[in-house]
Amino acid sequence: MNFNLQQYLKQNRKLANQYLKLILKQFSPEQELTAAMSHSLMASGKRLRPILSIAAAQTCKKDFLYALPACCAIEMIHTYSLIHDDLPAMDDDDLRRGVPSCHKKFSEATAILAGDALLTHAFNIISNPEPVFKIYPDSHTRLLLISKISRAAGSHGMVEGQMMDMKSFQNRQKKDLAHLEKIHSLKTGEMITLSVEAGAISVGADPEIIRQLVIYADKIGLAFQIADDILNIEGDPEKMGKAAGSDILNDKMTFPAIMGLDKSKKYAKKLVAEAIEAIAGFDESARPLRSIASYIINRDH
Ligand code: IPE
Ligand code: IPE
Ligand code: MG
Ligand code: MG
Repeated sequence: MNFNLQQYLKQNRKLANQYLKLILKQFSPEQELTAAMSHSLMASGKRLRPILSIAAAQTCKKDFLYALPACCAIEMIHTYSLIHDDLPAMDDDDLRRGVPSCHKKFSEATAILAGDALLTHAFNIISNPEPVFKIYPDSHTRLLLISKISRAAGSHGMVEGQMMDMKSFQNRQKKDLAHLEKIHSLKTGEMITLSVEAGAISVGADPEIIRQLVIYADKIGLAFQIADDILNIEGDPEKMGKAAGSDILNDKMTFPAIMGLDKSKKYAKKLVAEAIEAIAGFDESARPLRSIASYIINRDH
């Protein structure tokens, strides 16, 4: 059977956007805080994380609509992390998702609060999905999702990775690959793995299936950040909707900085091959996950 990845990405991006919009409707439109949340959330993100949740749920041959609350919560948390990542105290980036960064469009204080609001409301969505979603996991599953999401996003995951990233100056630190891999896996990998895992958990997947999906996801999560490092050097800012060249400017420890561009590309490719291998036992239902793995390193934005 033919599978068109671009069509698949577009269709599911649209679905995620539709629900994210419904979530924003819960807030009063005239408030500056709502405008700031909406500015960053509804800008042109790829929605890779929600799409991964949907694809994982489909691989489990279950109704993926159960995964939508987790999809939205994860995208809200991801967007908050981008708003804070762009702040002057962090990466100091002016452009995000093709529009001015939240602190550029509004103020620094508003951007901090918009991030806080997106993060906090994500947990409200999972614990209280009824106003937006007709179909959602039972309360036991939702509690498990809250536990997984809070762990991956917090000081055992993304936030700790961001902390390590802030302290990693490539010219002042020994070129320790294991350390860099840890930073990337924490700051980006954890949320990518969570996206796959949460999709499977949302539909009540078998633990053995989840275990195999997590091996796949850990590999693509690392490959995704290596691709981001490469795009920061070779990418076209027009297409990416964010600045290029900032990692070198900020003296960031990245894969190209440590092993060079060629080796970084080879390593990302190897990780993707291993990811696909990890789900080799799945049938056609894993086709989207296989295609997404290759897309992660071949994308231009
Ligand atoms: C960018 O994530 C930040 C990283 C973790 C590398 P994405 O490349 O998924 O950004 P959006 O969501 O499409 O804007
Ligand atoms: C972003 O990492 C990771 C998170 C936001 C958690 P980067 O700082 O490398 O990503 P971009 O390049 O700004 O999107
Ligand atoms: Mg950063
Ligand atoms: Mg950044």
